[in-house]
Amino acid sequence: MRQQNKYNQKVLISQEQIQESVHAMGERIAADYGDDPLTIIGCLKGSFIFMADLVRAIPRPLHIDFIEVSSYGNELSSSGNVRIVKDFKHPVQDSHVLIVEDIVDTGLTFDFLFEHIRLKKPTSLEIAALLVRSTVDLKKRPVKYHGFTIGEEYVVGYGLDAAGLYRNLNHVAVFEQ
Ligand code: IMP
Repeated sequence: MRQQNKYNQKVLISQEQIQESVHAMGERIAADYGDDPLTIIGCLKGSFIFMADLVRAIPRPLHIDFIEVSSYGNELSSSGNVRIVKDFKHPVQDSHVLIVEDIVDTGLTFDFLFEHIRLKKPTSLEIAALLVRSTVDLKKRPVKYHGFTIGEEYVVGYGLDAAGLYRNLNHVAVFEQ
């Protein structure tokens, strides 16, 4: 049976599915990095809830910072360029860095963040994303940790918005046609 939320949106990924995936991702990250210095940089605004859950699922000391970029404005289509609204501050030269994104859609944000942070010479640089579109070429854009692969549908919830709304849903939903 189709699960709906109170906004008549279809629940695509439930709270339980998300929590299970985020927990497994956190354990994997902890195992992969061992005791090496690790800085996690969340990409605002869409990653804020995923980031908050993910860092608590990684049972080890971490540095946490945020970068805010903008590419969508209030529209539902990409403007094709990415700009920094707020840069991260933590020095990363002697640290592994893990970027946390809500969704890798076109991959433009991925490319921009990768290049921007790579120039600061971290020990290593990887990306964790809750969602990756099936259209993303993972050979070209290797998203090391990702929770769910989705199609072309526009999704909201768990940090992701439509015109600024629905970020506070505890699941990922799609609008009914
Ligand atoms: P990019 O196209 O991979 O650069 O993704 C840019 C940003 O667009 C993501 O970080 C999201 O914040 C936003 N975005 C892309 N697809 C969706 C969606 O389906 N819902 C909400 N935001 C989205």
